[in-house]
Amino acid sequence: MAIIRNDTDKTFTLTTKGTMYQLKIDDFGQLINTYYGEKMDYMDMNYATEADWGTSFSPNPFEKDDTGYSYNNIHQEIALSGMGDFRLTTMGVRNADGSYGAEPTFVSAKIEKGKYSIKGLPAFYGDNAETLVVTLKDKVHDIYFHMYYGVFEEYDLITRSVVVENKTNESIHLEKALSMALNLPCGSYDMLYFHGRHTRERILERTRINHAKVCVESVRGASSHMHNPFVIVCDKDAGESNGRAWGIALVYSGNFEISAMKNLQEKTRVVAGINPENFNFEVGAGETFETPEVALVFSKNGFADMTNNFHSAIRNNLCRGKFKNARRPILINNWEGTYFDFNADKLVSMAKDASELGVELFVMDDGWFGKRDNDRSGLGDWTPNEKKLQGTLANLANRINDLGMKFGIWFEPECVSPDSDLYRAHPEYALAMPGRKPQLSRHQYVLDMTRADVRDNLFNQIATVLRSANISYVKWDFNRHLTDVYSANLPAEKQGEVYHRYMLGTYELLERVTQSFPDILFESCSGGGGRFDCGMLYYMPQVWTSDNADAIDRLKIQYGTSFVYPVSTMGAHVSVCPNHSNARVTPLRTRGNVAYFGTYGLELDINKMSSEEKQEIKRQIVEFKELYELIQRGDYYRLISPYGTEDSLFCAWETVKRDGSEALVCTVRYESDAATAPEFVKVKGLVPSKWYKINGSEQKYLGSALMNIGIKIDFDFFTYPSRLYHITEA
Ligand code: GLA
Repeated sequence: MAIIRNDTDKTFTLTTKGTMYQLKIDDFGQLINTYYGEKMDYMDMNYATEADWGTSFSPNPFEKDDTGYSYNNIHQEIALSGMGDFRLTTMGVRNADGSYGAEPTFVSAKIEKGKYSIKGLPAFYGDNAETLVVTLKDKVHDIYFHMYYGVFEEYDLITRSVVVENKTNESIHLEKALSMALNLPCGSYDMLYFHGRHTRERILERTRINHAKVCVESVRGASSHMHNPFVIVCDKDAGESNGRAWGIALVYSGNFEISAMKNLQEKTRVVAGINPENFNFEVGAGETFETPEVALVFSKNGFADMTNNFHSAIRNNLCRGKFKNARRPILINNWEGTYFDFNADKLVSMAKDASELGVELFVMDDGWFGKRDNDRSGLGDWTPNEKKLQGTLANLANRINDLGMKFGIWFEPECVSPDSDLYRAHPEYALAMPGRKPQLSRHQYVLDMTRADVRDNLFNQIATVLRSANISYVKWDFNRHLTDVYSANLPAEKQGEVYHRYMLGTYELLERVTQSFPDILFESCSGGGGRFDCGMLYYMPQVWTSDNADAIDRLKIQYGTSFVYPVSTMGAHVSVCPNHSNARVTPLRTRGNVAYFGTYGLELDINKMSSEEKQEIKRQIVEFKELYELIQRGDYYRLISPYGTEDSLFCAWETVKRDGSEALVCTVRYESDAATAPEFVKVKGLVPSKWYKINGSEQKYLGSALMNIGIKIDFDFFTYPSRLYHITEA
């Protein structure tokens, strides 16, 4: 039993294989968190939450003014704005009478088998979980707050979401509806977060959580390149294998906020959920509002254990569909090879060369539809350009299929070009503010995904294309952010709902399309990795990690991504040199080795490759297929960071079978130096007493030696060398 209810102490203790999360109904009916950390024997941990000294102007809701009891001190699971909690709050309720606040107080609780789901929103799922629902009600109005907790014992994963139910006779407005307040045990913490921009995503930064708010967020209408909706809060000295670490991932792809701050009692609170910027959601009489899910993984041993639990949970209980655990086809995408300048003969000629090397899927990227020979027109008109395709789409698909390859295609459903038939016929379909010309970005507008007619139009267009030809793969792109956030379909007082309704609409369309075409593999994309989040992974099991496919820049991008997202979700391709993002020249082998730790594919004009290069690609495809299971399903360890350490000019990572029987280490030198001293990389996850060989060597190594002394590194003498070390039992 993962959830234990103790009616004497009024506690609910959620336990996983290594962690414990305790909730308590306090003397005043408040739902508080007493503990979240390493698993222990049961006790009521309430003593840890008490305030120690004067309340520094903290108000006393129950006229017990010398006890320190205040909404400003206790460890609420849901923290109301306007009620004397002056810390980071999660919920702002504007009542029908205009007053701002609510006092959620305990009503009932139930424990259920299986994992709850959330209406209209992505969420972890599975029968291998338990659910706790604690229902709270405002003291004055019939407003209910259903607090959902999902417990996945095997992954140390706890999920949270809140459903606000308005049982009054009038509308209320949520001016803030974050999913979670988390009050951490006393201590000093750091936050690790992943920032970036286009072609430079998920760059790691680390900062101390002090008394000023630390906030990662998006107000772009998408989770965005700028901040990823995932953070780690950890002990200030925590590392890969030491210190306590709390991983916090939002299962949401729109505007978000994850913030942390120390309060006047030196305690840290973290909040996470929808960004309150331009958010104001009406909940009518009898209606509910569901917050997105937050997924939490605690590790007492640093980041690596947290990572591996997230990886397993995302692969098995977030990604869906027949591809979630299947080997994905090795693809070639024509984008960097041709950009918009192609016709069917060119694509078939690329596919022919690729098929001879073992590539299994040909993806036709942007430019196949409408009037689309550059990025200034055509979005919205999802009709094949038969002149460019030299026939029908079905005919092109057949030509590719005849080479023994599958065929895939690119869409950007959420956007529209002003120069398109769709926009000319339906300008009201685009987000635009009355009296203002909407702003262009990449020469395009954003469609109003809150509208059912827009979604129906898109579904019909997409379905017509997908039914017209033998299509096995879809890349779903999104290449700008939201401005002019106004829906012509909603009244003035509901415009604060547009950002969130945009996401609900997009999720609805994604659900409809992916469920209607279960045999198609969907890959999500947003100018590369601009919407790489747990929300998108619920619909599409892989994401194009970055438009930057340079092997050396990818070291940091894939390193940052790996903290939470599994290798199987990371789109990674071998591209041409000099690289199109940064002009760097790297060895083909290094490009391949880095792309192995993702989905591995190609994105270049294969017709222009030399026969030696083609042979190397052929070799890589064979090797990647052999190593696929180990790479995609092994435990993942970041061994040496690409940000540089005192004694290494290379980075290293590893994937290892959980039973320690086989491992693969990849090392890449990102800077050259003469006369380097002997270099070693210490391996993880082997069996100390077992003997191993490396790349089939004669020499045998004891597992404990490889883990304590390490593998001796032997790079080739050229720029940006890399090497794989395949460790097997001797
Ligand atoms: C985005 C994607 C690219 C490519 C282009 C096409 O930038 O990230 O991979 O599909 O759009 O316009």
